[in-house]
Amino acid sequence: MKINSIIVFFLFLSFGIHAQKNLEVDVSKKGGEISPSMWGVFFEDINFGADGGLYAELVKNRSFEFFKPWMGWKKIEKPFIEGQLQIKNQPNRQSNPRYLSVQLHNQQKGSLGIINEGFRGMGLKKDLVYDFSSLYRVKSGSVKFYAELLNENGEVIGSGESAVLTPGLGTEWHKVAFSFSSSETVNKGKMALWFTGNGEFDIDMVSLFPTDTWKGRKGGMRADMVQILADMKPGFIRFPGGCIVEGIDLENRYQWKKTIGAIEDRQLIMNRWNVEFPNKNAPDYFQTFGLGFYEYFQLAEDLGAEPLPILNCGMACQYNTAELVELDDLGPYIQDALDLIEFANGDASTTWGKERIKMGHAAPFNLKFIGVGNENWGPQYVERLAAFQKAIKAKYPAIKIVASAGTGMDGERFEYLDKELRSLNIDIIDEHAYRSPSFFFDNVSRYDTYDRKGPEIFVGEWAAHTKNQGGNQNVNNWLAALSESAFMTGLERNADVVTLASYAPLFAHVDAWQWSPDLIWVDNLNVMGTPSYYVQKMFSTNKGTHILPFTENGKAIAGADSLFASSVWDENTKKIILKVTNAGSSPVSHSVKISGVKKTDPVVSLQRMQSDNLEAMNTIEDSKNLSPVASEVKLDPKKKSLVMDLPPRSFSVYKIKVI
Ligand code: AHR
Repeated sequence: MKINSIIVFFLFLSFGIHAQKNLEVDVSKKGGEISPSMWGVFFEDINFGADGGLYAELVKNRSFEFFKPWMGWKKIEKPFIEGQLQIKNQPNRQSNPRYLSVQLHNQQKGSLGIINEGFRGMGLKKDLVYDFSSLYRVKSGSVKFYAELLNENGEVIGSGESAVLTPGLGTEWHKVAFSFSSSETVNKGKMALWFTGNGEFDIDMVSLFPTDTWKGRKGGMRADMVQILADMKPGFIRFPGGCIVEGIDLENRYQWKKTIGAIEDRQLIMNRWNVEFPNKNAPDYFQTFGLGFYEYFQLAEDLGAEPLPILNCGMACQYNTAELVELDDLGPYIQDALDLIEFANGDASTTWGKERIKMGHAAPFNLKFIGVGNENWGPQYVERLAAFQKAIKAKYPAIKIVASAGTGMDGERFEYLDKELRSLNIDIIDEHAYRSPSFFFDNVSRYDTYDRKGPEIFVGEWAAHTKNQGGNQNVNNWLAALSESAFMTGLERNADVVTLASYAPLFAHVDAWQWSPDLIWVDNLNVMGTPSYYVQKMFSTNKGTHILPFTENGKAIAGADSLFASSVWDENTKKIILKVTNAGSSPVSHSVKISGVKKTDPVVSLQRMQSDNLEAMNTIEDSKNLSPVASEVKLDPKKKSLVMDLPPRSFSVYKIKVI
């Protein structure tokens, strides 16, 4: 019987009680070190992950630069006078040419204004203070702004106003800012902006931010979304993707230099997920880059995670236009990579180091990795990668280069790339898998036979897809998470070669997603970790420092009788950490002999996720339905053996203190 069918058998048919297994964990046979950054996260602006998500800006299309400049806005003109609200375009403002030009005719409050609908509404919280700001220039007369928060019924639940604004010197833009609070909590609020006075003025970059951002940073990130990441203690953050790196065409690719500096100068582009899936079109999805490369490095630093940027390699998405830059024209792309390293690590004497310091971060970000290409493939990729490798290694030999093994973990495309990347002696190979739960159960031993002297492996994007691979009909259910837990025991057992791993994608907005499954779902006010999130967290917060052999009769526990297990030693806490998946439909009980230690604490801490229902999921309303439950069990200190009573369909983490 093939492994696949054995697993399906054990998963879906009930079976009798198994004989007790004699399992052993041997601390004297400590194996390779586990990279402290092994378990990380993959961030991409997909599913409204950045704009409308992590980036806490509440105003959509704040600079009127969307393809349709009125998208997200509603005009209020009472009475209607032709030409009072006009979008103008000043081509010399290259990165942000459009703005709103307003003619005032003795306007009273409520007669002339604009209403912003937010990103599928605005999440507003009772008693929280909101910061309004915009750029303006008054050409004649005087104007006063009134901002109002509106609830779902259109009632005013908060308001603030500017001073009377009059023409400044020259044609310079000025900033107006004021703050006010909301008297209600609403999930889908709006903001109205009224103009009163007489004359003419221009307005741009209309913005509303909550003040409870992560670390209270002005114009920062949603604190609840960062906190749920922080709780995972991620070892790295891969950024900015994902296909967004490549773009639909080269024009649409991610260019890091356009994401730093003053917010109003960061040139917005259409988000490629705007049009990717005909059944999930999101015409209002753009990248403002308010969360740009500086903010990304800062976030990684905040979370104690290594930054792991992935850059375009001169190739647009091969599922789309597959546009290529001629090898002779690759120079600027390679220069971008070199400059990013300098931006992250350079000192004040360097061009890009100086830019970072100007933005407020004097110390280097200590970048160690750089990815060249996302899901790129074929000889065209290999030759471009080789050119990047030569230039990066010449200038920064210590930076580890991450290279793409394509779109999947098998097949001709993968085999070709794997061979080529190994012959290029690439530091780290980035493997992706969006496959069925049975694929992950079947591939638990995949890395057992990998060459220990070859490149390290980054399982850079992966997730169990319950229905269609790489599509949007999949759900984050317990079967998916259980299969991922089993697969992760295989990654952990092979942590000497698999040094980085991240589930993908990270975030999805319940009203604005394109891709499913995702690790964390949000609405405008709440976050929800999926069962997969909790599995990832149980690994990343229990990562240990060294691999420990955890065996049955000297062999890895990798699927026999639906049991999957790995273990690590944590030098910092002197603990043995066991991770065990019982994917079967029956409870089992096995004793584990603890070898190679003199004495252990008899009290063992246990964290467990369990459900008999493989289709069980979490929801925003019931976000902890499937989440780890903590308890304690006793081991017999004289026999130095732990009896593991494993319920069906469970994933457990045991921690045994050596004393
Ligand atoms: O994670 C979603 C997408 O899947 C990524 O953007 C891409 O790299 C992969 O195909």
